Amino acid sequence: MHPTQLRTESLHDPHGLDEDRPRFSWWLTADGHDHRQQAWRIQVCDEDGAVCWDSGRVDDDRQHHVRYAGTPLRPLTRYTWQVQVWDESGQVSAPSAPAHFITGLRDQPWQAQWLHHPVPALPPLPQFRRRFQVDTGLRWARLVISARGLVEPWLDGQRLTEDRFIPGWTDYRQRLHYRLFDLTDRLTPGAHCLGAIVAGGWWKGQIGPWPAGFYAGDNDPLQVLGELHLGYDDGRHEVIASDASWQAGHGAVLEASLLHGEHVDGRRCDPAWCTVDASDAGWLPAAQRERDSVRLLAHPGVPVRVLAELPMRSCTPAGDGSWIYDCGQNLAGIVRLTLDQPAGTIIRLRHGEMVEPDGSLYVDNLRSAKATDCYICRGEPGEVFEPRFTFHGFRYVEITGLREPLPLCALRVLALGSDTPEAGRFTCSEPMIERLQSNIRWTMRANFLEVPTDCPQRDERLGWTGDAQVFAATAIGNADCEAFFRKWLADIDDARGDDGGIPDFIPARVRGSGADAAWGDVATVLPHVLALHYGDPDLLAAAWPLMRGWCDYCAQYVEADGTRRRNFCYGDWLAPDNDAPPTGKALMDRSGKTPKALIQTAYYIHSCRLAARAGEAAGDQTAAAALRQRAAAARAAFHRTFVHADGRIGEDTQTGYVLALAFDLLDPAQRPVAAAHLAADIHRRGDHLATGFVGITDLLPMLADHGHLDLAYALLHTQDYPGWGYSIAQGATTIWERWNGWVAGQRPDDPMNSYSHYAYGSVGSFFYRWICGLAPLEPGYRLARIAPHPDGGWRHAGYRYDSIAGPWEVAWQAAEGGWAYRITIPPNCRARCRLPLGSASSLIWDGPAPEGQREGAYLLVELGSGRYTARPS
Ligand code: BGC
Repeated sequence: MHPTQLRTESLHDPHGLDEDRPRFSWWLTADGHDHRQQAWRIQVCDEDGAVCWDSGRVDDDRQHHVRYAGTPLRPLTRYTWQVQVWDESGQVSAPSAPAHFITGLRDQPWQAQWLHHPVPALPPLPQFRRRFQVDTGLRWARLVISARGLVEPWLDGQRLTEDRFIPGWTDYRQRLHYRLFDLTDRLTPGAHCLGAIVAGGWWKGQIGPWPAGFYAGDNDPLQVLGELHLGYDDGRHEVIASDASWQAGHGAVLEASLLHGEHVDGRRCDPAWCTVDASDAGWLPAAQRERDSVRLLAHPGVPVRVLAELPMRSCTPAGDGSWIYDCGQNLAGIVRLTLDQPAGTIIRLRHGEMVEPDGSLYVDNLRSAKATDCYICRGEPGEVFEPRFTFHGFRYVEITGLREPLPLCALRVLALGSDTPEAGRFTCSEPMIERLQSNIRWTMRANFLEVPTDCPQRDERLGWTGDAQVFAATAIGNADCEAFFRKWLADIDDARGDDGGIPDFIPARVRGSGADAAWGDVATVLPHVLALHYGDPDLLAAAWPLMRGWCDYCAQYVEADGTRRRNFCYGDWLAPDNDAPPTGKALMDRSGKTPKALIQTAYYIHSCRLAARAGEAAGDQTAAAALRQRAAAARAAFHRTFVHADGRIGEDTQTGYVLALAFDLLDPAQRPVAAAHLAADIHRRGDHLATGFVGITDLLPMLADHGHLDLAYALLHTQDYPGWGYSIAQGATTIWERWNGWVAGQRPDDPMNSYSHYAYGSVGSFFYRWICGLAPLEPGYRLARIAPHPDGGWRHAGYRYDSIAGPWEVAWQAAEGGWAYRITIPPNCRARCRLPLGSASSLIWDGPAPEGQREGAYLLVELGSGRYTARPS
């Protein structure tokens, strides 16, 4: 057995960690079966090779979130660590390949001052620079940098990093992040120049549909804060901190806005601006301002990067001297142009997700977002325009300003998003379902951009809580989101009100209440989902105040009859169960038909139960018991108010049944009755779903769990409205906000109509956890359930998942009399399997047959680690 894939705070070799005692995780590799880790030993060394922690052999089977317990970590220091493990037979492995992490500034006070341009508020964007000298004997060099705005750091004429949108998005009034860059290998003795370009980003530009000024006023200048730390062999430690010795200038970026786009005048571009020999003409001493008390912390998440580069597929003239280019994929990102045009040529790129029937760009759904980049050519052959401080949600780009169209190869589409490592791969025999999975993945890429957003195109792009709450489990099934969500969980904590209320979207405009059922419940659902999937043993206790606060907040709205009612609630957002025709128009009540009090009461019960578990984890048994009692009382009220004598629930809507079943609100005898009513409603609608954001996640799982697997498969394949197949039949490459977002021959007349909105993509978890059947039974996948639901006439389906404990695989294939299975369980993990047999009497295993037990048409078997294949006998 051998340890691999070492991670610190769930990141590979992170630079800039503020934790006092970071946590270590690793995978194990081993041939054969039933391997367990009996003990581990971790060694951590600083950069001088001094051992800071040697755990010695620790008899413990944990392989993730193991806390550092050595001497106190120093700031800005590179630590290397290795782990060694003992297997079940006492065999010790060789030490793993080394991993490293670099600590952040930690509690060391900043010496730097915030810098701004002395003539603020004037375009172009400000840039800053400082020349400095490196002596011989440099041992290490580390830059910490932040901004009020977005900063692009430069060194010696080049961008320092391809990461974008530094320092990310937080409620800047409360918490600001910095990033750390290790420059040790980039600095040689001699003269150098450090630079920074600063744009407005989330701090100063327009956010959402409101005028700019979320965090910064009109007169607040864009600012940068940075310190370059140089450590020498002789022990000298030099700090080049942002202060009045820096110079401020203006560059070529005339304007940059996340929503509206970026304008660059290539003629103003001085490639040498950040070099030792640059001219000083036009540069002034930077102005500085006192540092305030805002918390500055190392960025704990994952950077935004280019996730994929796509070619353009076609170019069509669109009249008025414009051309529409299509890259074939809706995404969030930008277009890079390589140009050969006369100096002064002005090129405009307007981005959109759809084209109108007349071939022009459809932009109504961008609302006030201009989504337009503009470049004035310098006149150099092969010059490149690539916006750095904006992104757009688009598939098509309209280009104006040229006499001839650009060749396709002059345009490259760069998909941008938070670089959450790919962790799940679902495949199957059905092309339409594979397309749906791809659409889910692309919608996630487009919307996991620093925070989980609702959409990437219109003047919104906010961290809507409800959307992320319903999608979280699917997101985790696709990518390693631990660090990404941990960062957002801190944002949620910053945003909650003193009464426990949660805003609609986070980072928030106004702290505190706003959100209601299913939206605010992100406060309980997200910690629960994270703890379950990633097995972080500290998370629930840490989230306990947040979770409990939300339940207390909700309790204020519990009426005398025991149900929860607050007049404001989004309801089952965009559910088509008011029987609206598929017009694409805003005819329907956006909240759907499921009674809001039903949704509020159901979610209240669910949240109280989840919070109670966190209370238990935090050791607050009394408060946990009180929450359980509240849940029980609300459940009784739910029965009195919403469960009718004939077993119908509420207004007989699909979402009402789904919530009652998924949140375990019914007595055992009531469950099949509710499921039958649910199925009946689906049949009544000609085998169509009718749920909105709230009901969608558990619709298919509840059908599958209650004897209606065929119907779940049938819904997946529905080709017409409302259903997933409808958008796919219209050529969708991402998930739409509305089931009827685009109807051929009719222009949508409601601009709230995004083509990249992941809520309905939460069906993904049905693929991974039901169709393939992999789900954690113990936090962190030490013990998992493998209960595939093969059917639907599919020939095969498979899912590979890189859990925190190692890679899993479950795949099934139709075979004579039943299904053949392929299962991989990582070392140190076990699975409880429930494998459908079809008409076979048992399974034939390649290799030694595990002992199983038949239960009806299933084989129940518990498997230890290793690879297994079996076929029907
Ligand atoms: C957003 C959502 C959000 C909803 C709340 C919309 O504008 O795009 O996805 O959840 O408002 O009702």
